[in-house]
Amino acid sequence: MASQLSTKHLLGIKYIERKDIELILETADQFKEVINRPIKKVPSLRDTTIANLFFESSTRTRISFELAEKRLSADVINFSASSSSVNKGETLLDTVNNILSMKVDMVVMRHPAPGAPSFLAGKIDANIINAGDGTHEHPTQALLDAFSIREQLGTLQGKKIAIIGDILHSRVALSNIFCLQKLGAKVRVCGPATLIPRYIGELGVEVSHSVEDTLQWCDVANVLRIQLERQNIKYFPSLREYTQYFGINRSKLEKVKKDIVIMHPGPINRGVELSSDAADSPHSIILQQVENGVAVRMAVLYLLADRRN
Ligand code: CP
Repeated sequence: MASQLSTKHLLGIKYIERKDIELILETADQFKEVINRPIKKVPSLRDTTIANLFFESSTRTRISFELAEKRLSADVINFSASSSSVNKGETLLDTVNNILSMKVDMVVMRHPAPGAPSFLAGKIDANIINAGDGTHEHPTQALLDAFSIREQLGTLQGKKIAIIGDILHSRVALSNIFCLQKLGAKVRVCGPATLIPRYIGELGVEVSHSVEDTLQWCDVANVLRIQLERQNIKYFPSLREYTQYFGINRSKLEKVKKDIVIMHPGPINRGVELSSDAADSPHSIILQQVENGVAVRMAVLYLLADRRN
């Protein structure tokens, strides 16, 4: 196995190699063991300063990165656009350069504009980690999803993973497709035709508009939220009809007559894409995904710090 990542930034799963993903997952195995010890902290990033720049709302990713950084003993600064001088018209580059002049080594950034982390990576020296850029990629979510599936099923190789819901507006879907395929899984996307991009078949995924057929097919169902905040036109007649045809509930799962792992990146719209009796069932690993997120982000930070200039 490689001992170093092939990149100094994590901008998207599309831009890294299978051996990078495997190194991150193997390193995360070790950090998962660390965060389950009574003393959960290691000194690995003691001389490293990390800025978490969140230009868009987040609960899980922001807290998970901050916890991962603190568990690695890094110095951490948090920035949220809503309470910053971005509101006074400052550009992204000026904001980031001002923060970097305070000797920051790594930047974790969430931004509504696809490509914003790549833009920064070409302009500044710090390691950049994409924590979600618009509808483009959310690489650490895909890595923690892959880690969680591997933990449940032992391997990704040959497993059938369905991604169900609003594929069109989802950065999680795109990062998951790249990550799962690189690890040898078969991927199917499922949802209403209006919420599946026309190009998706070119990525080598199957496309289905039948939840019942997809649940029969898959080993894992990764259910995605309807991203109403990114939809400026109507993509389906009503939420009630969406739920009836594409929502996952216990009754649909029981008809399958096999055990399917249920995943969701969060936040869940309970009762819309996923009912409570499915989200809270023994087949759901949603909270394990969140727990694994800390170990996976520790691994990403640790390995990228090793690639610092
Ligand atoms: N899964 C995820 O990115 O959640 P947050 O938007 O809460 O960070």
